[in-house]
Amino acid sequence: MRRIGILTAGGDTPALNATLFGAVERANQLGLEVIGIMKGFGGLVDSRVPHLKLNPLFSTIPELDPGQGGTILGASRTYIDDSQTDQLKEVAHRLERLEIEGLICIGGDGTINGMQPLTELFPCVLAPKTIDNDLGLNYLEEPNEWVRDGSDEESPVIRRADDQRRTLVLEDFVNFATPGYATAVFVVAQAIERVRTTAESHRRIAIVEVMGRQSGYIALGSAYGQPDIILIPEQRLQLDQLCERINTLYDLQKNVVIVLGEGVLDEEGNELGNVRPTRDPAGNVQFSGAAEALRSMLCERMGNEYFRSRRRHETAKDAIFTRKVGHTQRGGRPILFDRFHAAQLGGKAVELIHSGRNNMLSTLQWSEKRGFHVDSLGCLKLRDRWGTIHPRSLHPQLYDARRFMPSDFGVEYLDRIFSRAVGVEYLDHMRTELFSRSQLTSRHQSINVDIHKRMQVLPPE
Ligand code: F6P
Repeated sequence: MRRIGILTAGGDTPALNATLFGAVERANQLGLEVIGIMKGFGGLVDSRVPHLKLNPLFSTIPELDPGQGGTILGASRTYIDDSQTDQLKEVAHRLERLEIEGLICIGGDGTINGMQPLTELFPCVLAPKTIDNDLGLNYLEEPNEWVRDGSDEESPVIRRADDQRRTLVLEDFVNFATPGYATAVFVVAQAIERVRTTAESHRRIAIVEVMGRQSGYIALGSAYGQPDIILIPEQRLQLDQLCERINTLYDLQKNVVIVLGEGVLDEEGNELGNVRPTRDPAGNVQFSGAAEALRSMLCERMGNEYFRSRRRHETAKDAIFTRKVGHTQRGGRPILFDRFHAAQLGGKAVELIHSGRNNMLSTLQWSEKRGFHVDSLGCLKLRDRWGTIHPRSLHPQLYDARRFMPSDFGVEYLDRIFSRAVGVEYLDHMRTELFSRSQLTSRHQSINVDIHKRMQVLPPE
């Protein structure tokens, strides 16, 4: 193998450039040329295939900085439709013209599904990423626990079996943490710390909405910011129990901070906010408005008199406010944990494709003996019996639903990731770069401008 392609697909994370960097550095050692495809699968669907050389003469281009968030290749949520056989053939032909012999896709569950039909045409390997930490398994046999209900072949209901495995050990996780997750938690924890002091000063109840879709991993990690209550999508909201806890805390400390995973469900199992379908082949949906919905519920349940009688606020609406941490969770510099392991996972993906493997992904594992280390898994192992990849949900053992907090096991899990996750270079960046005088006198130099100068396209045939 002489030349490989690489692309970044789906929503971005702060660690994508780090994965690209690790992949290119490993390719340099192995004597492989790496062609970066622009804009994820969108670049392959485009007949001109905008691309650039990431390691001319086997040295990594200087624009590829593992410490910068985003992706120099650009990302998109465009996917290849596996029913469009002509389009698939065209993509294979374009890669052939570029003399690309294998493809590395950096992405999540949507990307694996997008990559799947291509694995029939040429070797493809996935390097994982997602801030949601939902690409992976709590334990290897988890996909076999999905069962099909009813006899409706057209639209069968696939649900988790009631007898799913209840106990696990830390060594069981497949993909202990995905690149991007640690930085997202880092951002969320700081946001909560900041919201807390203002909630304290003004005797308010704060509802902070965090990303993660149907998975509560980011919400769980928010515990580092010491919120009072964490609500995760995997546990339906119990309004009575929640209000009881809020009342106790508000009476005691005159403020409450609640973290809400954006995909939280109400007592009937409906999403609290709005849900919009996306074009993602993993069937991912977009969530919005969960925090506002919870605020309305609490305002109605607690009422104005509750706050007035305590001489704190005139109305419940004044007392309860919401904040979305939003896309800051996905942007900016990766923290050390993400940068380091993302680079390793990129390097491992290159090794896999170089040794002739196809339809596999590199994984980040943890064991008592070896600590964090990279490994690999066949992509099919992530699929249930009907071929679906389910987003990894937060296993019940990680969360204490009575206290709305991480369980003891959840604390162990988080501590493995975060005990040494942040390096001093983060502080250095703030002191020497973010708050340097030159920030005030120069404009932001977008990486897109420099990358455009290196970009090439396929000439018409
Ligand atoms: O999957 C990553 C993620 O950031 C989710 O946590 C979030 O729900 C979604 O993407 C947001 O997507 P977009 O940036 O397309 O609105």
